[in-house]
Amino acid sequence: MSGSTLLLSILALSSVARADYFSKDPLNQKVVPHDQIPYQVMTDTDDPRGFQSGYNQCNSTTENQESLCQTMYVNHIDDWCLWAPAPPNTPISEAEGDVVAWCSKAGHGTRIIPAGAVTGLQFVQTQSYIQVAGTINQALLNVGGTDGGELDSGGQDGEGNPMGGLVYSNSFPSSNGDNNTFAQVQRWSFFIGNNAFCGKVCDMTGKNPAGLCNNIYDRLGCDYNAPNTAQEGTFEFCKGDDMIPVGTYVVNGVTSVYTQPPEASPIDYDNLPYTATPAPTSSCITYQSADLFAAGATISGASAPASASATPSGSASASASASGSGSGSGSGSIPAGAATSAKASTPVASTKPSSGSSSGSGAAASPSASGSSGAAAAWGVSGAAVVAGFVAVFAL
Ligand SMILES: *[C@@H]1O[C@H](CO)[C@@H](O)[C@H](O)[C@H]1NC(C)=O
Ligand SMILES: *[C@@H]1O[C@H](CO)[C@@H](O)[C@H](O)[C@H]1NC(C)=O
Repeated sequence: MSGSTLLLSILALSSVARADYFSKDPLNQKVVPHDQIPYQVMTDTDDPRGFQSGYNQCNSTTENQESLCQTMYVNHIDDWCLWAPAPPNTPISEAEGDVVAWCSKAGHGTRIIPAGAVTGLQFVQTQSYIQVAGTINQALLNVGGTDGGELDSGGQDGEGNPMGGLVYSNSFPSSNGDNNTFAQVQRWSFFIGNNAFCGKVCDMTGKNPAGLCNNIYDRLGCDYNAPNTAQEGTFEFCKGDDMIPVGTYVVNGVTSVYTQPPEASPIDYDNLPYTATPAPTSSCITYQSADLFAAGATISGASAPASASATPSGSASASASASGSGSGSGSGSIPAGAATSAKASTPVASTKPSSGSSSGSGAAASPSASGSSGAAAAWGVSGAAVVAGFVAVFAL
């Protein structure tokens, strides 16, 4: 359903094309203590998909809006990151292997999420994982196009998307409330596109991290992978129950596991055997976005047309000019009404493979046009924008 859904199918297509190579040293098996992070965690040099484009050692010198840091954190509602493209206006299907960390707080050696980029946020902590979901003004995060996609610690070749992406948290029980004690997260998945995103990072010492953060349902988007009730305009932290493992559902007391069809096969999103519902949340606390994204207040939008020439491969120099964008003051660039305008302009009817999707990776995403039903509930996003975007995606 969700737009991410189909886009995911795009990614899936590429995975098919590369099924012949799989890492002998997969990312989600690597043990990397936080104080032993190498410059680049990827080690395979024979992957046809290439090599890690950024780096994992991130510090004050790499903390800027051209950072290629690929180590990220999901700590607290005012201290978390997401993955987004390095060059401006890049469809996630083109950037999946090279996305970089964008964080809400300074201190991680990454890009900073500009104020106004996240327009709604639900941060849920359960016994076994942390889930973040929300609405975004994607242009401020360099996400282009109308498609979405999954980023996870698996990837078609086991290298992860981004290749070499590392994730840590100081918020699991093993940290005992000490913000300087970081646990490595080897099982995680994020979806971003269509002005929305979601992510889930699983506590490796918790219950069933491989199931709760399963990454094989890349065509089902946020509504099935990270069911949530995020709403544009609301910023909240909640405690939550664990969801049922991704892809698992119960009907009339019978537990079943959904099998996502091969990428070449269309999915009839109107007739999936189940509808995922968000797990119960409690003790929700709401915040003002300005308090959560203070670090981004002086960051001007990354959507600067100035560096539109950046190449999708994300070389360091590619986005170097991005900071240009002039408009010194951050506030000026905060598109308060972004979400609204996004809705208006969402090409609901665009049934063509939108221009940009040049990258070989399957721009031709199986035209499983059937799908259309609203994924709104799934993303928990009330706005029609997301749904519309998804529709457009389906049309791809
Ligand atoms: C900071 O990070 C960069 C990129 O990983 C690395 O080259 C550099 O050595 C680091 N600097 C320090 C002082 O650790
Ligand atoms: C850890 O960081 C969060 C904010 O990200 C803060 O609210 C909390 O008080 C910190 N904990 C400690 C023990 O400093």
